[in-house]
Amino acid sequence: MSLLAHLSDVHLLAPGEAVHVPMRLASTGRVLDAEGRMEKLRGALAEAQRAAATHFVFSGDLTEFGTERQYETFAELLSEAGLGGDAVTLIPGNHDAYTSPTGWRRAIEGPLRAWARGAAAEPGKVQPIERAFVLPVDVSRHQNVIRSQGYVTAEVGAALAKRLADPALAREAVLLVVHHTPFKHDNAAWQWINGLHDQERVLSLLEQHPHAHVLHGHLHRRIQRPVGEVARPRVFCVPAVVNVTGARMRLYDVSDGAVTPTD
Ligand SMILES: [Fe+2]
Ligand SMILES: [Fe+2]
Repeated sequence: MSLLAHLSDVHLLAPGEAVHVPMRLASTGRVLDAEGRMEKLRGALAEAQRAAATHFVFSGDLTEFGTERQYETFAELLSEAGLGGDAVTLIPGNHDAYTSPTGWRRAIEGPLRAWARGAAAEPGKVQPIERAFVLPVDVSRHQNVIRSQGYVTAEVGAALAKRLADPALAREAVLLVVHHTPFKHDNAAWQWINGLHDQERVLSLLEQHPHAHVLHGHLHRRIQRPVGEVARPRVFCVPAVVNVTGARMRLYDVSDGAVTPTD
């Protein structure tokens, strides 16, 4: 059995970093307290470590604005917690791409390079962990701060389809780590602003493959939903680490090709 900790939406700021107007806008509704946000991540990591989690998945919005200083701060906290490169999965969220279209690539080649093995990079990347295969998926795109969409390109969709059809991966649970939910928002305008563009490319794969699961963030709340014919939930979201109240991570038991939350 593998005990997986799912953390998301840390929205880290960097201590002493100047906060410009777009960053303030990106952080609407949240106190701009760099140290406080660092403490929240420390708390969530300590909680997961106390529970003896064997793997740590971060489903995006690691930083508030994707600046180099913010990525450095995130790396410092992973390092401080003593998390090794094989114990962590990292993907970017929409916030991580607000500063630059190349910010994520530079982060995993720079401050986050110690954790690059489990970081989203080329489409279809696989990170084998105990009792599961993790697919870290990058759906982020550099966009104006008034938008918060994710994008599943045809290339990403095809790469994921190929992985899920691979019998070698079907022996265990497959965990797609994606920042946005694969479900469409009911409101079309909100879907256009905040949803996952071409989400059906992910949803149809979940319908076809009962061993496929999604761990996502972005919605900042606890969610678990089934897909298609399979009754057990296979799409999971967690409250944001940056949130002031509530649980800041979830734990899942991963065994026998399935992901089962412990809460
Ligand atoms: Fe977020
Ligand atoms: Fe987000």
